[in-house]
Amino acid sequence: MKPAVLVARAIQPEVVARLRNHFDVEDNPNDQVFSKDELIARLKGKQGIFATGSERIDEAVLSANPELRAVCNMAVGYNNIDVPACTARGVVCTNTPDVLTETTADFGFALMMATARRIAESEHFLRRGEWKKWSFDMFTGSDIHGATLGILGMGRIGQAIARRGAHGFGMRVIYHNRSRLDAAIEQECRASYVSKHELLQQADHLVIVVPYSPASHHAIGAVELAQMKRTATLTNIARGGVVDDAALAQALATGLIAAAGLDVFEGEPAVHPHLLTVPNVVLTPHIASATVSTRLAMADLAADNLIAALGFGPSAGKPPTPINPEVLRPAP
Ligand code: GLV
Repeated sequence: MKPAVLVARAIQPEVVARLRNHFDVEDNPNDQVFSKDELIARLKGKQGIFATGSERIDEAVLSANPELRAVCNMAVGYNNIDVPACTARGVVCTNTPDVLTETTADFGFALMMATARRIAESEHFLRRGEWKKWSFDMFTGSDIHGATLGILGMGRIGQAIARRGAHGFGMRVIYHNRSRLDAAIEQECRASYVSKHELLQQADHLVIVVPYSPASHHAIGAVELAQMKRTATLTNIARGGVVDDAALAQALATGLIAAAGLDVFEGEPAVHPHLLTVPNVVLTPHIASATVSTRLAMADLAADNLIAALGFGPSAGKPPTPINPEVLRPAP
């Protein structure tokens, strides 16, 4: 008998077909978003879940489903998974790093540029039929080239954004991270390490790429926004909750900073109502990794992880990108 797995959301049919070669698959082609109770019920008797960032896998889910052996996320971020709880139960968790790095960096850069050059705001103006004449200060924004790019969180995606800024746009790049990068990486990204305070004070364009954790909750709030230049922009492609959205909406409304670009939100898909009323913010629905080829690469990697984690395929027992590899080691 094949092991049973749940594919929690609608994904590419060819990836579901590949999973069916190894598993008895319950999929979700109608893309229903399961409540916690529904998720628990659907996981009954399942050994694996192909999850997305939308499913919270915590102790309640694990204790109700003791047969679960693998939680494979189709996302690089995994704040939806209680990893210590999984590890304590010997459940392997995986994510999808690397395959989305360049695509996500492209989007982060695009969102920063749209924000600085007021692309969404001016498009709305045009669509409203308000464009009647040229004027010297119509939608004047701020330059990207030659400006100071500040990056909070210098992992793979942060580094890819730094390379775009430094090499493509002649930006001065500064970053702040939990730990300083090797000199060789700093040199390749042409990025200098600064304190968080210096980052906030000096950045013309601040891009947030730090993973969400209790430690990064509201890393940017009213206090931090007050340290930024009034001409600065802020772009968040990390996770909702890293930025205090209420404080940001207030800062945008009062001109504490010039503009923001947000792909992620606290409590998404809900968006803080004040963010919807301020004009100087570009809002996108968490699509930074959304290209056809990257979303397929993510799904394929999540499937490879699930297949290997449950002991099938060429790398049986060795999923390519585990988050808690310690559960894979044989007990001493
Ligand atoms: C998207 O937000 C991801 O974590 O992959």
